[in-house]
Amino acid sequence: MNLHKDIKSKFNSDEQELLNYAELAAKKSYVKLYLVGGPVRDLLLGNVSHDLDLLIEGEIDLFIAEFNKITHSEPIRSSQFKTFKYKINDYEIDIALARTEIYQFPGSLPDITPGSITKDLYRRDFTINAIALQIFPKPYKIIDPINGIEEVRNKIIKIIHEKSFQDDPTRIFRALRYSTRLNFPIDKNTSTLINRDINYLNTLSAKRIINELFKYLTEKDIYKSLSSLTKYDLLHIIDRNFPTNENFVKHLNIFKEQIFSITDKELILLAILSSTMNTNKLNNFISRFSLSKRISRILIDLNKINKKISYISFMKRPSSIANLFDKYDVEALRIASIVTGNKKFTEHINNYLNIWAKIKPYNNGDEIIEMISIDKTKLSLIIEKLRNAQINGKINSKSDEKIFLEKLNKQLFK
Ligand code: CTP
Repeated sequence: MNLHKDIKSKFNSDEQELLNYAELAAKKSYVKLYLVGGPVRDLLLGNVSHDLDLLIEGEIDLFIAEFNKITHSEPIRSSQFKTFKYKINDYEIDIALARTEIYQFPGSLPDITPGSITKDLYRRDFTINAIALQIFPKPYKIIDPINGIEEVRNKIIKIIHEKSFQDDPTRIFRALRYSTRLNFPIDKNTSTLINRDINYLNTLSAKRIINELFKYLTEKDIYKSLSSLTKYDLLHIIDRNFPTNENFVKHLNIFKEQIFSITDKELILLAILSSTMNTNKLNNFISRFSLSKRISRILIDLNKINKKISYISFMKRPSSIANLFDKYDVEALRIASIVTGNKKFTEHINNYLNIWAKIKPYNNGDEIIEMISIDKTKLSLIIEKLRNAQINGKINSKSDEKIFLEKLNKQLFK
């Protein structure tokens, strides 16, 4: 198998066009240009990649100015570390300066200094991600100082140096994610080092942890991908109040139906992770991970709803269930209906969201007041009774409602 033979022909026409633009910009700004990381790995594997990671040796600002002119575009994001992100057609293009990184302490963001392509490849996470393709100057040529191609061929996830997980413990999450995505086992020594360095995860900010967890939700097989978090007892190293591994995997079945939006997926994952917490622990979880007000409100409601599940199954009247559900955020109910494994409960929530919450009296307020001549202050009580009667199937038409109103009037006010 000659993985890099005629690599140029492996690009599709869109990628080739973007690379031609970048090549022209490199020529005009006198810099060296490389494609690195994921796209090279995917190209070698024959997988489709929708991002292009470009690396520059030389004056990156000059390159960016030329690239903007040629593509008639501007970066959608840039950073003080001289990284630039573009979105052109369906492609995300990341452009960065070749650099070396120094980690002042484990889990910190690195200090960077410009460096050569080789040094840049050595600072990376796994050997399969440390391969570059030189785009300019021509001809295209593979740069593979760490034998990444060999590891692609061997189908293995292997780190580049012994302190990799200490420098950047997010790589533990990345190792498992690539391992499940590509179906490549984690190399034995790499696995030993994960075990050795797993507690360095505690040096990461909660925001970086949650970002890594959310990346699992962009994988094709979310179920398989998230299930891998049970290895090395990772879940409980992050937070000992997360569900047991068995419970976690059971909940993940939800992700086998890939019908949710990304924000729903994030909420569902947070709901699963916090599903066995009491109110105090949930509040700690919310503040540790700085969850937004909206998400916190939903998780708090979900927690309350979860506690009511068994109680609700004893409730006979649909209107009592609807009145209870009225107290909660609609989003929390929607997520509860997805997350709960309880069929009856899901049926109730679906009825509430699709039917009960939308029910209105057949007559409007003025008509009701006129029909039974009550004063306005009593109207909300009457409307509540009418809604409950409709939910319970006692009113099915405008005339049913009239008869019901007359009886009610007698009972309540005469
Ligand atoms: N990288 C790293 N250490 C990290 C994150 C990223 O060394 N903690 C390097 C890797 O070389 C990786 C590249 O930066 O290939 C780009 O990172 P990212 O876009 O996250 O990954 P991709 O390799 O593009 O993989 P994916 O297919 O998941 O996008």
